Amino acid sequence: MIPRIAPNQYGVPTLYVNDQPFLILGGELHNSSSSSADYMEKNVWPALRPLALNTVIAPVCWETLEPEKGSFDFSLTDSLLFQARQEGKKLILLWFGIWKNGETMYAPSWVKQDPITYFRACYSPDNPSDTVSPLCTAAIEADACAFARLMSHLRETDGEENTVIMVQVENEIGFLGAQRDYSKEAQKAYLAPVPPAMKEYAGIPADNTDSWYPLFGEDAPELFMTYHYCLAIQHIASAGKAEYPLPFNVNAWLEQFPEIPGSYPCGGPIAKYMDLWKKLVPSIDMLSPDIYLSDFKGVCDAYTAGDNPLFIPEARRDPVTASNVFYAFGQYNALGFSPFGIEDMFPVPSPSGSAPEEAPAPDPAVMAALNIDLSAFSNTGTAPYLQRSYEILSGMTGLLAEHRGSGKLHAFIRKNEHDKGIIIPLPETDIKLTYTGNRPGLPGTAGFLLENGPLGFYITGCNFQIEVLPKKGSEKKVSLIRLEEGTFSEDKFHPGRILNGDERMQAAICPMASVLRFQVCLY
Ligand code: DGJ
Repeated sequence: MIPRIAPNQYGVPTLYVNDQPFLILGGELHNSSSSSADYMEKNVWPALRPLALNTVIAPVCWETLEPEKGSFDFSLTDSLLFQARQEGKKLILLWFGIWKNGETMYAPSWVKQDPITYFRACYSPDNPSDTVSPLCTAAIEADACAFARLMSHLRETDGEENTVIMVQVENEIGFLGAQRDYSKEAQKAYLAPVPPAMKEYAGIPADNTDSWYPLFGEDAPELFMTYHYCLAIQHIASAGKAEYPLPFNVNAWLEQFPEIPGSYPCGGPIAKYMDLWKKLVPSIDMLSPDIYLSDFKGVCDAYTAGDNPLFIPEARRDPVTASNVFYAFGQYNALGFSPFGIEDMFPVPSPSGSAPEEAPAPDPAVMAALNIDLSAFSNTGTAPYLQRSYEILSGMTGLLAEHRGSGKLHAFIRKNEHDKGIIIPLPETDIKLTYTGNRPGLPGTAGFLLENGPLGFYITGCNFQIEVLPKKGSEKKVSLIRLEEGTFSEDKFHPGRILNGDERMQAAICPMASVLRFQVCLY
């Protein structure tokens, strides 16, 4: 059975792999790691072993897949599959085709060297960028052919085993550096009547013959680019889907201050145009935010609007990622979560004993210009926290999957520095959580409570203190009768210490995530 997304018994979109619900505890590799099987063998797979992840997200690049037009080389893809199977991991492949982060970096040289056939988008008339235009049907067709070959190869080599569970089509698409493409073809299309699908989207009568600017005013450039990227992605994705219908996602470089299209890739699946994407790109199963911003909740709220399942292919690398992961699964029934640059969380020492090479730090000036929070890219101190969070979650994925949408899962996150805590109202008691975490360089406060039978609970996450309260308005009092710490494996709780006395009074979970089980009684 092909991996698929389908509603579970409560109607919550769920990823099924080998017919079982599957929660992606993932990690995305740096862009260049999977370009060498040898590098993967020596530096990546060993580095991933300490982490309880079940899925590795890795690029497959057009330039290495089709180095000469029409001649395909699947050796890197095959080694990746072979190595992932040996390691017992699933894969999500990132198709780095015509576009990666708003640029044309991964197209083969025969595309890059032929700017007539594969023409570039222009920043202004006659000022070409190094990015293939989304109006270039020849490039889109060539990309779609290569992508279809990749998918048919996966069907042939992995259709039984299902090591690859999802594919991302392109990466953070959109045009960087200008609000729209000014190539000759784009100019012509921009001045032509708006296409019927856009008129339908905007509720404009079908017989209207206006062009983009008269109809959409200052939103016209971005809507124009979004429309053309949508058509391109639909063409590419549908060609791949026809060969092998795995779940597909498209990821977004998020819109961010100063909110000028072109300062982020213009035309990508940003939150405000998700409805347009859903309409024009039916071959894509979900739109996925790459979350480096600090407002984790705000972004997740936006990307779960409508029926969009939440999959976070790139999450920030600092310790707060180790608490956010609980909220992603507990609050949004996420399909998956994956910090970026996972292989250097636990770098492998070189055989000579010298310190492992650090991934190059992003240029602070560039990051400041893009208004990007540098700490999102620093993994200093993250490894032990993430390791623990993944350990806990990987022991309870079945339980979590079973409770998606059941109403028994109650997630929480500290929203800002004024947020002191939460009272979770339950049928017979209220649970008060006081938030304790607000120190930089550590995980934040987040977690979830799972109702486990009458008056019994599991709670996990980071940085909060627990108190059980009588149900508001009830005459019954409530008492905590047993509190235990423990671990989960294969969805079973294995108790450790019974926490009583001082430890019960302080019933608290620290920056390092842990799991508690507790039972209360009413009197
Ligand atoms: C977002 C991109 O999607 C990734 O491929 C990577 O370039 C990270 N940014 C930054 O390192």
